[in-house]
Amino acid sequence: MRLDQITWQEAEAYLKRSRGIILPTGSTEQHGPMGLIGTDALCAQTVAEGAGEIADACVAPTLAYTPAPFNMAFPGTISISEPLFEALICEILEAVISHGFDRIYFLNGHGANLAPLQRAADKFEPAKTRIRNWWDFPAVDALRRQYYDDWEGMHATPSEIAITQATHRTVSPGIAAAPPEKLSPEYIRQHAGDRHGPPDQHRRRFPDGRVGSHSALATPEHGSALLEAAATAVAGDYADLLGGR
Ligand code: NI
Repeated sequence: MRLDQITWQEAEAYLKRSRGIILPTGSTEQHGPMGLIGTDALCAQTVAEGAGEIADACVAPTLAYTPAPFNMAFPGTISISEPLFEALICEILEAVISHGFDRIYFLNGHGANLAPLQRAADKFEPAKTRIRNWWDFPAVDALRRQYYDDWEGMHATPSEIAITQATHRTVSPGIAAAPPEKLSPEYIRQHAGDRHGPPDQHRRRFPDGRVGSHSALATPEHGSALLEAAATAVAGDYADLLGGR
């Protein structure tokens, strides 16, 4: 259930039967010619809601304003600084812990969130928090490899776009119909966690916004399968976090 769609009395009743909460984190940034600006947030949110249904978990409002400085040369991107994001996470953790939540599961959809999320979580008892990307699980990764192999790439990935096609809308590929420049394994290693350069340089290097990802391979059918696999895997991992009390 979504926290923003229940009353305080329902939240109080929930806390009598569970101390867990899922908090989705995404971004507001360009995702190539056919990817929605909210792709990361929409993916994290829909996977979290699916997991919440399976695991009877409360799902907090999605954090969509996060650090994405490297995409600021593309219209529509809204980036906040890492220190601000980290401070926001700390205050949210303090707030939910004050109400009695003691197992907080961050479901992430944006690589650049990982380091500040981890720094914030490290200020609290380790057993209270867990941070996962929706694509971290073997069942999800197997589908990504099966559908896209190396064309999954790094940004505006066909898997994330497939999920938003299943849940929101499909944009015709336009200039993204052709494959992007293929990235070397070395480039992918060096830029993991969205460690990209300054905005102008990033846009010059990747003019249409895709970073090694062949977005046009996405289909809504893939998206439904990825969503189901991710929601099931997250529900299991969340149950594991609750069991670890
Ligand atoms: Ni993304």
